Amino acid sequence: MDFLNLVRDRYSCKKYSDKQVPQDILEEILEAGRLAPTAKNLQEHKVYVLRSQEVLEKFDSLCPCRYGASTVLIVTFDRNSVYVYPGEKRNSGAEDAAIAATHIMLAAASKGVDSCWINRLDPEKMAQTLGLPDNEEILMAMDIGYAADDASPLPNHSKRRPLEEMVVYM
Ligand SMILES: Cc1cc2nc3c(=O)[nH]c(=O)nc-3n(C[C@H](O)[C@H](O)[C@H](O)COP(=O)(O)O)c2cc1C
Repeated sequence: MDFLNLVRDRYSCKKYSDKQVPQDILEEILEAGRLAPTAKNLQEHKVYVLRSQEVLEKFDSLCPCRYGASTVLIVTFDRNSVYVYPGEKRNSGAEDAAIAATHIMLAAASKGVDSCWINRLDPEKMAQTLGLPDNEEILMAMDIGYAADDASPLPNHSKRRPLEEMVVYM
């Protein structure tokens, strides 16, 4: 599919079927995250794949947004390995992890796998509950799976500000 059509068709899925993402497809999707560019090529991001019932229940105890997905990805970055930008006010951690997460989201769409970017969670509590190492910070979670038969995009999916408002030529 043409890339722009892929981006147009992707939507935040909020109702999943029980169907698991096959391992080979999941690995291709994760590969797109591995290949993401990072500042200074530090590659400080990591992806946790939540699939066991026990771990998904822990996730559900802190986040109401799984929507029946059988797999949740948690994208983190190592806060000890980030590139600190000149001025020392910002670093690359969230940015690098967000690029990897976006690669993953769009790679999933290219494989017919639905997803939803999730941030309605307390990242520190979630990291503690999942037993992640202290140096890792959660950027986001991503539900992935196959949309239920009656799932559809929310009305806001088609509402985007016009390009003229969002692009300034100087
Ligand atoms: C940074 C970010 C955080 C989001 N967090 C949540 C969330 O916690 N729960 C949820 O249901 N959707 C979440 N979404 C999905 C947005 O609500 C959705 O992308 C937006 O409404 C546009 O809809 P669309 O993706 O279908 O075009 C999030 C999206 C982004 C980019």
